[in-house]
Amino acid sequence: MTYKAKFKVWRGDDKDGGLHDFTVEVNDGEVVLDVVHRLQATQAPDLAVRWNCKAGKCGSCSAEINGMPRLMCMTRMSVFTEDETVTITPLRTFPVIRDLVTDVSFNYEKARQVPVFEPPADLKPGDYRMSQVDVERSQEFRKCIECYLCQNVCHVVRDHEENKKSFSGPRFLMRIAELSMHPLDTRDRRKEAQEEHGLGFCNITKCCTEVCPEHIKITDNALIPMKERVADRKYDPLVWLGSKIARR
Ligand code: SF4
Ligand code: F3S
Ligand code: FES
Repeated sequence: MTYKAKFKVWRGDDKDGGLHDFTVEVNDGEVVLDVVHRLQATQAPDLAVRWNCKAGKCGSCSAEINGMPRLMCMTRMSVFTEDETVTITPLRTFPVIRDLVTDVSFNYEKARQVPVFEPPADLKPGDYRMSQVDVERSQEFRKCIECYLCQNVCHVVRDHEENKKSFSGPRFLMRIAELSMHPLDTRDRRKEAQEEHGLGFCNITKCCTEVCPEHIKITDNALIPMKERVADRKYDPLVWLGSKIARR
């Protein structure tokens, strides 16, 4: 079945822009990205859109559809009624380059600031041993496709540009938690999670978890356990006494 749907697509650059109206053909089984491609092919050949896999695996086609952060290639047109206007806007938290393409380099900068895995110095590759439960715990976090929908939706940076400097966002706090839970990682990541990556800014609103296309339980399985680890360190009387003595 084919029908014509109404779309509002944000067009512009970092200086100026607005919503443009289009009417585009939609066919059975199509996703929003199919329609955006048809729009490019028939009416707006210079419309900028980032995508790669069209299979929900590269994390490139992130946008906001009717105000909800989503992957365009994984959003079926059948979730909208035929008479509904579908509004597509770029991710709001990152600067627009052009049309639906944003500059997500904030995320790469934050990624570079997370120190890498630090195994025991005398442990050779091939001698690593982990129990299955530890493997499974980090495997959930490894499903991340780096779409940055969680980074885009978190109110800590979405509504407060000034927090970007001190808050790494759910994706990278999850990476720190993953490393911290790794039985062979020797680095104590609790202090830096709190003081350099802004774990304390997270007030567990869970919006990140809600938008994750990989259904990773970011808040429950990464952020809250990491907060508990930080609290243990802070309120452990022995750690407290040790830090007092060290300061003398
Ligand atoms: Fe995307 Fe989920 Fe990874 Fe965040 S955690 S970047 S929402 S896949
Ligand atoms: Fe933000 Fe997720 Fe915490 S949306 S406030 S990082 S639970
Ligand atoms: Fe790769 Fe959508 S195009 S996730």
